[in-house]
Amino acid sequence: MTSLARKAIVVTGAFGALGSATARAAVKAGGRVALIDRAANAPPGLLEACGPDAVALGGVDLSVAADATRAIDAATDHLHGLDVLINIAGAFRWQTVADGDSQLWDLMYAINLKTAVNASRAALAHMRKSGTGRIINMGANAALKSGAGMGPYAASKAGVHRLTESLAEEVKGFGITVNAILPSIIDTPANRADMPQADFTRWVAPQALADVILFLASDEASAVTGALLPVTGKV
Ligand SMILES: NC(=O)c1ccc[n+]([C@@H]2O[C@H](COP(=O)([O-])OP(=O)(O)OC[C@H]3O[C@@H](n4cnc5c(N)ncnc54)[C@H](OP(=O)(O)O)[C@@H]3O)[C@@H](O)[C@H]2O)c1
Repeated sequence: MTSLARKAIVVTGAFGALGSATARAAVKAGGRVALIDRAANAPPGLLEACGPDAVALGGVDLSVAADATRAIDAATDHLHGLDVLINIAGAFRWQTVADGDSQLWDLMYAINLKTAVNASRAALAHMRKSGTGRIINMGANAALKSGAGMGPYAASKAGVHRLTESLAEEVKGFGITVNAILPSIIDTPANRADMPQADFTRWVAPQALADVILFLASDEASAVTGALLPVTGKV
């Protein structure tokens, strides 16, 4: 099992399906976590499961740069440092171009890309001082080759892929790595409700994604940067 002993880890989108599984897994691996989310309250039991060092910062819209900086600074203060930023905040919407509207393009860009940009910039202020750090972004396999109705989402996630590559190059000399995970379909309650006829065994379990995320957060992954890693189960 990957060891993240005593590492200070910020998880965004931490109240959601993958975020909460990742936060729990990070604590099991020995890390100390700060949970940031736009939702006001953590799901019942999550903060307790993350142990006495954990802090939950709800009601934070990371697409607003000043709010992201405030939250990352508060998390860093609480954890007395920042070793790992896991950018999980995001959302999916399906909409065709012909019958759609521009607002959804702005929304996907804000939720999927700007949240990662703002949180990363705020984290880099701390990581560059300490000369070490890990940033793990959430891209999407569906952004490698898109389909009808996937435009706004896939374009925003393609932006996350390019952000990952660009930032990895930018901070190579600072001991900081930047990588992205590209899930296909995650086995979440929301996806099960949306696609009740699907074969759930083909999807990727949140825990399986968390395992890969935590590897990228670990010391063992120090030579991996700028990678876009599909984690797609049997989809
Ligand atoms: N589910 C999949 O099949 C799948 C596939 C590929 C990639 N992904 C990506 O994987 C990540 C996690 O997916 P998930 O299924 O776990 O999603 P989820 O359950 O909806 O969790 C996402 C969390 O991010 C929060 N969030 C959204 N916008 C935010 C903002 N502006 N500032 C701060 N927090 C914000 C959400 O809060 P609210 O509830 O208030 O919106 C929610 O708690 C996302 O980036 C998603 O795009 C998911």
